[in-house]
Amino acid sequence: METVIMAIETSCDETAVAIIKDGKEILANVVASQIDVHKKFGGVVPEIASRKHLELINVVVAEALEKANLSFADITHYAVTYGPGLVGALLVGVSCAKALAFGDNKPLIGVNHIEGHIYANFLTNPNIELPVVCLIVSGGHTTLVKIENHGEYDFLGQTRDDAAGEAFDKIARALGYGYPGGPQIEQHAKGGNPEAIELPRAWLEEGSYDFSFSGLKSAVLNYLNRCEMKGIEINKPDIAASFQEAVTDVLVQKTVSAAEKHKVETILLAGGVSANKYLRNRMIESASEKGLKVIYPPIELCTDNGAMIGAAAHYKALRHDFAPLTLNANPNLKFAKTN
Ligand code: KG4
Ligand code: ZN
Repeated sequence: METVIMAIETSCDETAVAIIKDGKEILANVVASQIDVHKKFGGVVPEIASRKHLELINVVVAEALEKANLSFADITHYAVTYGPGLVGALLVGVSCAKALAFGDNKPLIGVNHIEGHIYANFLTNPNIELPVVCLIVSGGHTTLVKIENHGEYDFLGQTRDDAAGEAFDKIARALGYGYPGGPQIEQHAKGGNPEAIELPRAWLEEGSYDFSFSGLKSAVLNYLNRCEMKGIEINKPDIAASFQEAVTDVLVQKTVSAAEKHKVETILLAGGVSANKYLRNRMIESASEKGLKVIYPPIELCTDNGAMIGAAAHYKALRHDFAPLTLNANPNLKFAKTN
């Protein structure tokens, strides 16, 4: 089945619309970032995000059509992220997609944001052979899944407290680097020594693929407090590098071990933190020692965008997995074990 999907993503602070042909060809991928608006508050302000989405959504839809040189008549399906995310922000995208699907009389597809992150990999590598083990590392999730069939997830592990991206953002904030923190930590870590500060790694119980980053976060914050109390000058690049090293050690070790245990040949990385080149390189290094392949999306498709939602929607369209026009935003939509 041939698809030309208009995909809308407004779960957080990016107003994004893409047009994707057959799950792999990016005809348009417009991302209107609100980062500058939220930067001065040190994080995303939900009310402001919803208002900005409202202002931008129609403009971004029109821009995507123009970039793709298409009209609504060429679109076969409308797809939208319906959760998880900020409820007010999600509602803008969901309302827009529903109106378009109704007005244009085309099927509607609801996509879980996290599934979108995974499918960013299939845009540039549509021939990925399943099964794979995928590590999803974003601002809200740190999850390991095995994927045997499209749309079916075997949950191997997840974070018990902070997500990896959340930890990056919190430490960046404590170091005065601002929002979003991940890219800044990566940048500053380049000039630091990853062994300068001894930080904990939460391996948890033997054989567990769960994660925990709150202990690491507290250890860094305690270290900063101690230095301040004793009047010791801190070396920010050393802290950034040591923190990044601790997070990477755990993510790499657990992912490669899960891939080996579940006898897959390929590891996928997904989510905003997978834009981190240090993590990518360490994962490749460790996986290749075991003869495993690592695939990740290009940097611009790691963070939130509409293209990934369009890719996930294509595979849903193939399964005739459509949403009713009563589809609602679900801020707490799960991507986790159900029991
Ligand atoms: O996937 P994403 O764009 O949004 C969510 O669905 O959460 O992920 C955003 C997260 C933020 O925490 C951000 O700091 C982190 O991804 N991030 C990075 C990098 N780029 C973005 N973390 C580490 N290194 C990066 N280069
Ligand atoms: Zn995301």
